[in-house]
Amino acid sequence: MNKNELVQFILADRKFIPNHTAEAFAPTNIALIKYWGKRNAALNLPVTDSLSVSLAHKGAHTHIEIINSAQDEFLLNDKKLDLDSSFSLRLKEFLDLFRFKKEHYRIKTKTNIPVAAGLASSACGFAALTLALNKLYNWELNATQLSILARLGSGSACRSIYSGFVWWQKGIDENGLDSYAIPLEQRWPELCIGLLIINNKAKALSSRLAMEQTLKTSYLYEMWPQQVAHDLNAIHESILSKDFEQFAKISEHNALSMHATMLSAWPPILYAQAETTQLMHKIWELRKQGLSIYFTQDAGPNLKLIFLEKDSASVKEHFPEIEIIKPF
Ligand code: PMV
Repeated sequence: MNKNELVQFILADRKFIPNHTAEAFAPTNIALIKYWGKRNAALNLPVTDSLSVSLAHKGAHTHIEIINSAQDEFLLNDKKLDLDSSFSLRLKEFLDLFRFKKEHYRIKTKTNIPVAAGLASSACGFAALTLALNKLYNWELNATQLSILARLGSGSACRSIYSGFVWWQKGIDENGLDSYAIPLEQRWPELCIGLLIINNKAKALSSRLAMEQTLKTSYLYEMWPQQVAHDLNAIHESILSKDFEQFAKISEHNALSMHATMLSAWPPILYAQAETTQLMHKIWELRKQGLSIYFTQDAGPNLKLIFLEKDSASVKEHFPEIEIIKPF
């Protein structure tokens, strides 16, 4: 199946009763056990499962409108996007899957997380857009179907359909119908995620290209699926038993291992900047002194701190610029 066939299959028995407008919100999510590598690039089918936590009210609000025009219009945080930009082209390609009567759309997305710093990312954007399309066309799809459609926009978007801890099962079918996210019922109200934004002026390599380059050239990547399988079991147990040290340690170790596969790619991929590694050393030093803080890092230079509410005040003292989010 290709993308179009997959969408047609999911929407096969749906009515076509478009409203004029619709809107939806989706939270952004931070992977604790990372998704790194696709087994099918066209359908965004991953090599491994992954596990994330959604960031509650932090994410994207998307408003969609069918317009009488020969082209789409995209606005991100009230700023009109150039239709030739790489982000617009990705949006357009995703929307092309749904234009049943060749209609065009005006899409206004507002995020409450810093987009320029690469944190908003595509995850909440494509999830919010999928939810908005579902309302626009009155499809009444279930969460599993929405997760599959969001995945076609960006892999990690399939996890942003849910709040809390979310497990993306990779699936085994080549048609992509069994690769979607599942929410975990466990909650962890004391858990905090802190955003440490490092100004990133250099244009980062997209996760799509970075994954491709890693899979093609890194010998270390061969070990990655084995580590993910181990880390997923271990982190799941730590969530069930609320063992914070174990939970946060596995997250940090998993993130660093993902970055190690990139560093062993050729040409090498290094998302960390000088400030990133300075912060890592600071975190490790504070940990030696007894503060229970850990970090995770995605396809950018920023770090996300992982800690418990009881340590919030100390964390703020050491990182005054931090933005603290409580996922539960
Ligand atoms: O969904 P994408 O293509 O933006 O890739 C996400 C990759 C990571 O953020 C590094 C890991 C993850 O699981 O979210």
